[in-house]
Amino acid sequence: MIPVREAVAGVQAYGLLPGDRRKMIRMDLNENAWGCSPRVLEALQEIAPEDIGVYPYYADFLAEIARVNNVSEDNLVLSNGADDIIRTIMQVFVDAGEKVLVADPSFGIIALHAQIVGAELCKMPYEDDLNFPLEKCLQELPSAKLLAIVRPDSPTGTFISRENLQLILAAAPNCIVMLDETYHHFLGESCLDLLESYPNLIIIQSFSKAYALAGLRIGLAFAQREVVGELRKVALPFAVNALAVKAGMAALRDTDYLAMTIREMKAEKAWLREQFDKLGYDSRDSFANFILVNIGERADEIAELLKSENVYVKNLNKMDLLKGWYRMTINRRPENEKLLSVIKGTMP
Ligand SMILES: Cc1ncc(COP(=O)(O)O)c(C=O)c1O
Repeated sequence: MIPVREAVAGVQAYGLLPGDRRKMIRMDLNENAWGCSPRVLEALQEIAPEDIGVYPYYADFLAEIARVNNVSEDNLVLSNGADDIIRTIMQVFVDAGEKVLVADPSFGIIALHAQIVGAELCKMPYEDDLNFPLEKCLQELPSAKLLAIVRPDSPTGTFISRENLQLILAAAPNCIVMLDETYHHFLGESCLDLLESYPNLIIIQSFSKAYALAGLRIGLAFAQREVVGELRKVALPFAVNALAVKAGMAALRDTDYLAMTIREMKAEKAWLREQFDKLGYDSRDSFANFILVNIGERADEIAELLKSENVYVKNLNKMDLLKGWYRMTINRRPENEKLLSVIKGTMP
């Protein structure tokens, strides 16, 4: 075969999700088990041939996102999910050999796209208490081109404080700070208000989690106008399809549904932690839609058993800081009960 670029040769493909999704309980992908707003389904039912026979129009959607977030349309760019804008940002800012900083463990797609552009990837281990490695980050910053921070992060579930984030932004005027806010609705706080003050800040958000539109693929980035101009050169002109635009618009407008699902997810999260506590397992809350549970030495074996029962968890056993732990997305009660019953079956 004709050789691929050197940077691509060492990359492992993400791979397709196997099987029939409706037969699985997936607690490993941080999807939203409550599903999207009924308004989204209504909007999709109203689709006419002339809506999908033409290339998508973004003006109304951009205006609505700008209004909801109190920014100008010139401050944002759409993408085919947050994954896609991460790739675009790497392509726009990082040349081969330039340094990309990311805390470890963190969202794998960041390292993947850094690798594909040929960056020198510098992974900074989280502190033992799973807090952001601030000191190490400040040391590495002067020689870095891009720093990726996920807030709140996955799988750690922790988040960097605004004060520390501002410290970093000020210390690194020549480094792009890519702040991934995919889970910000669950945390209840965004850093969009910092955009005005920091030309090096790019904030990523997604419609996959709180809005439960993962299958439709809508992501976006916010930044100062000049940065957005550069991102738009590389972003695909029609990255978000016409159905997704209709759905996204309906989701944005149904603020009651958004609030309700977040509230219910949090209540279920507390219940699930309580059950693990009663069973004698250590758990950690997150500021997102998952918990971490310490399963212990049998983590690999029990993950396989769960899989045989169609329950998928994110087994973190190979990560130094989280040996023996699982990350589990909060599902609804029947699915959570099924998880607990399989785990109980493994206990003496
Ligand atoms: C931190 C983080 N960023 C981005 C994404 C991807 O989001 P999207 O579905 O919008 O591509 C995920 C998905 O799990 C994530 O955990």
